[in-house]
Amino acid sequence: MFVFKPFHCRFSFVFRVIVLLEGESPPQPQFSSRKTLPAQMISRNNFSVWSILKKCIGMELTKIAMPVVFNEPLSFLQRLSEYMEHTHLIHEACCLSDSIERMQVVAAFAVSAVASQWERTGKPFNPLLGETYELIREDEGYRLISEQVSHHPPVSAFHAESLKHDFVFHGSICPKLKFWGKSIEAEPKGTMTLELLKHKEAYTWTNPLCCVHNVIIGTLWIEQYGTVEILNHSTGDKCILNFKPCGMFGKELHKVEGHIQDKRKKKLRVIYGKWTECMYSVDPKVYETHKKSEKKTGGESKKTKQVKEGSDDVPEIQETVTMVPGSALLWRISPRPPHSAQMYNFTNFAMTLNELEPGAERLLAPTDCRFRPDIRAMESGDIDTASTEKERLEEKQRAARKERSRGDEEWSTQWFQFGTNPHTEAEDWLYTGGYFDRSYSDCLNIY
Ligand SMILES: *[C@@H]1O[C@H](CO)[C@@H](O)[C@H](O)[C@H]1NC(C)=O
Ligand SMILES: *[C@@H]1O[C@H](CO)[C@@H](O)[C@H](O)[C@H]1NC(C)=O
Ligand SMILES: *[C@@H]1O[C@H](CO)[C@@H](O)[C@H](O)[C@H]1NC(C)=O
Repeated sequence: MFVFKPFHCRFSFVFRVIVLLEGESPPQPQFSSRKTLPAQMISRNNFSVWSILKKCIGMELTKIAMPVVFNEPLSFLQRLSEYMEHTHLIHEACCLSDSIERMQVVAAFAVSAVASQWERTGKPFNPLLGETYELIREDEGYRLISEQVSHHPPVSAFHAESLKHDFVFHGSICPKLKFWGKSIEAEPKGTMTLELLKHKEAYTWTNPLCCVHNVIIGTLWIEQYGTVEILNHSTGDKCILNFKPCGMFGKELHKVEGHIQDKRKKKLRVIYGKWTECMYSVDPKVYETHKKSEKKTGGESKKTKQVKEGSDDVPEIQETVTMVPGSALLWRISPRPPHSAQMYNFTNFAMTLNELEPGAERLLAPTDCRFRPDIRAMESGDIDTASTEKERLEEKQRAARKERSRGDEEWSTQWFQFGTNPHTEAEDWLYTGGYFDRSYSDCLNIY
């Protein structure tokens, strides 16, 4: 039995004490790890995105219905849990006694959390209001719960906690999608908060922007860019990471570069690498010296090749990260499985997310994404059923909303509450506890 105290939840705390007194812990579902999806993906070649998108230039895309064939068989809630793929980095940070070393591993975690985006051009299913997703990974020592807490604008809140009370990682994301004629830009609005409980530290950051190029014609490719600032709220120390746009010569593609600085803005470490590959940390002086000597010998410039200005072509330069001597490796990505290309470019971790083990049905909340018939049909390769089921679910959601508005009923979230994040003092969605007690009689029938 885990006793975990969320921020503001006396009620669930009292409830938990009662459960403890009764001395019973509800059974938890076991998830094994399947290595593959039930079916290969269906080719999108016969579908024209242009006919749908040409009317939407510059518009918010979240409200536009796209054919299911452009989706990947995961709900956005499941896609969010991919932040947890490299949880071992949080465990590593928990064990480090030096605060700078902790910060650099947290920085690697923040980068690794968005690495699964690489080559993933399928759109995850929009979660229905009240949809939930749980993930228990005893092998990795954590459990996660997420909920779709708002429909317009769409907001997904998640809360992950270590099974040994080492850390809590939570946040809420409101994805803003914009179509720019050739590309779709996704801005994941929302703050990530990582608390290392034994160190009494909290770090917060926001994720970079993600852009899918050539949505109409040409080869699809993905870029992430923007500045990610990881702040240690106890001291004011910061790690500033710059996710670089590909740039005119393509040589910056996927690069991330930044540094850790103290309150007085003194650079303590340089952090560099690619979000698709690996991240290193090095002493700032060593880094500067290396850059200067590289400039003298013209090291990098030979490798670069010009990309036509204004073109959306995939940059050809794909050279790996050159390690500066004296650097420490913080993180390296694991290779994707060989069948990934036929399966939406999923990672091994993503392959497992929608698995429904026999027996788990009785334990999961009825709102869990694993019960979504449209996603289930799509992962089995049945696009027609996926499409009709998706329409049916959306219609059911509209009808429920109408029904509520007639009865003056307010929608209320099940597991999260709108409140103030104590670390940023900003509004945020916070877990109210109780999900894993497995009492779901109040859950709505959304499927
Ligand atoms: C897609 O196109 C291919 C070849 O152009 C054709 O053989 C196939 O029947 C088409 N599939 C559908 C579902 O229209
Ligand atoms: C998977 O990656 C390949 C290679 O970059 C790309 O051509 C393809 O469109 C990607 N597929 C999906 C579903 O994103
Ligand atoms: C973060 O805050 C803690 C608690 O005050 C402090 O001990 C630590 O040095 C800080 N870490 C970094 C990386 O600045």
